[in-house]
Amino acid sequence: METVKLGMLGLGTVGSGVLEMIENNENKIRNIIGRELSVKTVVVRHPEKHQNAATITKLTTEFEEVLNDEEIQIVVELIGGIHPAKEYIEQLLRAHKNVVTANKDLIASYGPELAALAYENHCDLMYEASVAGGIPILRTIVNSFAADNILEVKGIVNGTTNYILTQMNQKHWAYEEALKKAQELGFAEADPTNDVTGKDAAYKMIILSYFAFGAQLKIDDFKTEGIDTLNAYDVSQAESLGYVIKLVGSAKVINGGVFVDVAPTLVPEDHPLATINNEFNAVMVTGKAVGDTLFYGPGAGGLPTANSVLSDITSEVKNLIMGTSGHAFNTYQSEYVPADPDNVRYP
Ligand code: HSE
Repeated sequence: METVKLGMLGLGTVGSGVLEMIENNENKIRNIIGRELSVKTVVVRHPEKHQNAATITKLTTEFEEVLNDEEIQIVVELIGGIHPAKEYIEQLLRAHKNVVTANKDLIASYGPELAALAYENHCDLMYEASVAGGIPILRTIVNSFAADNILEVKGIVNGTTNYILTQMNQKHWAYEEALKKAQELGFAEADPTNDVTGKDAAYKMIILSYFAFGAQLKIDDFKTEGIDTLNAYDVSQAESLGYVIKLVGSAKVINGGVFVDVAPTLVPEDHPLATINNEFNAVMVTGKAVGDTLFYGPGAGGLPTANSVLSDITSEVKNLIMGTSGHAFNTYQSEYVPADPDNVRYP
């Protein structure tokens, strides 16, 4: 049986999860895609810290060892942040390598541009893991809402803040204590500022808006508020009134524009979103034909996010076998412009 050789950039929580899943699910993967998967080379800053990573052939600090390796057809980018991830991905796409990434900051900021570059070079850029960790929401929107008009996408798309709010609400922990625990559990970003200020959720709403509406939004096109100014009193006051505070992102077409916002929201305690706890996420997609649908699952963490990365890798292997690389997630045209938040009243 042929082996598909992978390159990987970064080996943190998600990267380790990818290696673990490849090792533990060897037979299943072989049966599904008819190929063996092998991680040939991983680029890390400190190889000496990762000597236990058994399935890797080579650990290196040199990006060129992946870029110039003819055997590697798929590269998984898991270093996060915009630079140097953007420059690495551009070079990889120009070298006709297919790229899988979980990098929402990068995709929200440069996704359409990078998708166009992938298309020009007849290869794929896939990023299912960039939104809502383990929930296969992007593929669902592309495949399962292909012929419906999506009216609204809203939900809880940041695991760290949902974990913090859940602990503050149910265990009456202080904000700082809950944040520390979320970091220890590997839900938060290396620097959790984007989680708690709502920016991480805003990036995910940009990507969801692109998939749902074809809108190419920038982070400054809409208002984002985080949970960093909430305290235990706010949470207990909400509870006494029959509400739960959740960080909710929503994107909706209003007057021909896409209106997006991210904000701590009072959710009635009998609403489905009020029941989403800990690091779990939920995305409600409302279609004109289908009505309300709800997708639920872990929004952060090594293995759930790795599962989404692996779903992209196996899809890409199928594309390579079928000769259909160069079309994934790349086909959206922008139909809507951002709505001016000051001129839109949310119904
Ligand atoms: N820090 C992110 C979260 C990780 O908490 O949701 C998954 O994107």
